[in-house]
Amino acid sequence: MARLLVTGGAGFIGSNFVHHVIEHTAYEVIVLDKLTYAGNRASLAGLPEERVSFVQGDIADGGLVDDLVTAADAVVHYAAESHNDNSLSDPQPFLNTNIIGTFTLLESVRKHGTRMHHVSTDEVYGDLALDDPARFTEETPYNPSSPYSSTKAGSDLLVRAWVRSFGVAATISNCSNNYGPYQHVEKFIPRQITNVLRGHRPKLYGDGRNVRDWIHADDHSSAVLSILENGRIGETYLIGADGERDNKSVVEAILTLMGLPADAYDHVNDRAGHDMRYAIDYTKLRNELNWHPLYRDFERGLQATIDWYRTNEDWWLPAKAATEALYARAGQ
Ligand code: NAD
Ligand code: TYD
Repeated sequence: MARLLVTGGAGFIGSNFVHHVIEHTAYEVIVLDKLTYAGNRASLAGLPEERVSFVQGDIADGGLVDDLVTAADAVVHYAAESHNDNSLSDPQPFLNTNIIGTFTLLESVRKHGTRMHHVSTDEVYGDLALDDPARFTEETPYNPSSPYSSTKAGSDLLVRAWVRSFGVAATISNCSNNYGPYQHVEKFIPRQITNVLRGHRPKLYGDGRNVRDWIHADDHSSAVLSILENGRIGETYLIGADGERDNKSVVEAILTLMGLPADAYDHVNDRAGHDMRYAIDYTKLRNELNWHPLYRDFERGLQATIDWYRTNEDWWLPAKAATEALYARAGQ
């Protein structure tokens, strides 16, 4: 593997992976990204031009994908429509990108015999009850709740079928909720941080008892690289970091770290079909590939993320007003 094609490499997690690869390997990278509202070239700033090239385009464009797959030794597929709330107001782009886009990539790697890693989410498994002692494993049945998670589930099933029926050399990872720098302000943690920075109150859906299993994006990237290099073809690996927290305590932690009273937030309309709890058992990844997360102290990771948003207003401010206007329309 000398050259990777990274789809969605101008998004939150894809750009983190590109930085990680440049820092920790000798690979070259071609980024293919449509630059939707969620993509930002500034997230790739500072990377060496001789090792990273950028192509603006759609993963559902078969001709373009074919040209780029021909030029690559492996594909790492991050591109997706990624936000549950958007999928509830307009599901169509989720079908186009998550299903048709993944299909288009699969057909191309099939034709060229190229290695592929497909990046997915734990949300394909649906949700767990708060008092359920279980966590998701690679054997948990698929049971997605939203247009976002159902299209991600559909894309995973396409990958599995292309492995079995056509012998495509693919792996899949399903990761829990990521946090860190360069995350779009529509998502939970950056929305609350940037609300506080703008002098507005954080917004908590429903009663805030919903639990997410937080992992720093840097740890997600190291796990994907490890699976790409050493994972067994055809296998699925869950990625997590023992980071279960309910939303209310995350909002309270943000407020406290930013020097405000812990209760200075608003309750807003709950999300339709809101999943209650996600939790990841990553025993397989730990045992097979000896992978471990480096970020183990959520408060420290959160403080560093707050500091990043405080000093990088240029990166996020242009998207803030339009994002909040959409939320206001939904009473959120
Ligand atoms: P993001 O929304 O920040 O970035 C998505 C990127 O894909 C953007 O740069 C966008 O321009 C690009 N894109 C969208 N449609 C495209 C298309 N048709 N063709 C080419 N590029 C297109 O998303 P993210 O949070 O970085 O998530 C990346 C991947 O990781 C997704 O597949 C997501 O399902 C998965 N994932 C995310 C999380 C999370 O917590 N954010 C957790 C687990 C898995
Ligand atoms: P989000 O970042 O959208 O990720 P996901 O839906 O993939 O888990 O939301 C994380 C959690 O935070 C989810 O339970 C919904 C909740 N939430 C809020 O309480 N307030 C908000 O403003 C947002 C955007 C999300």
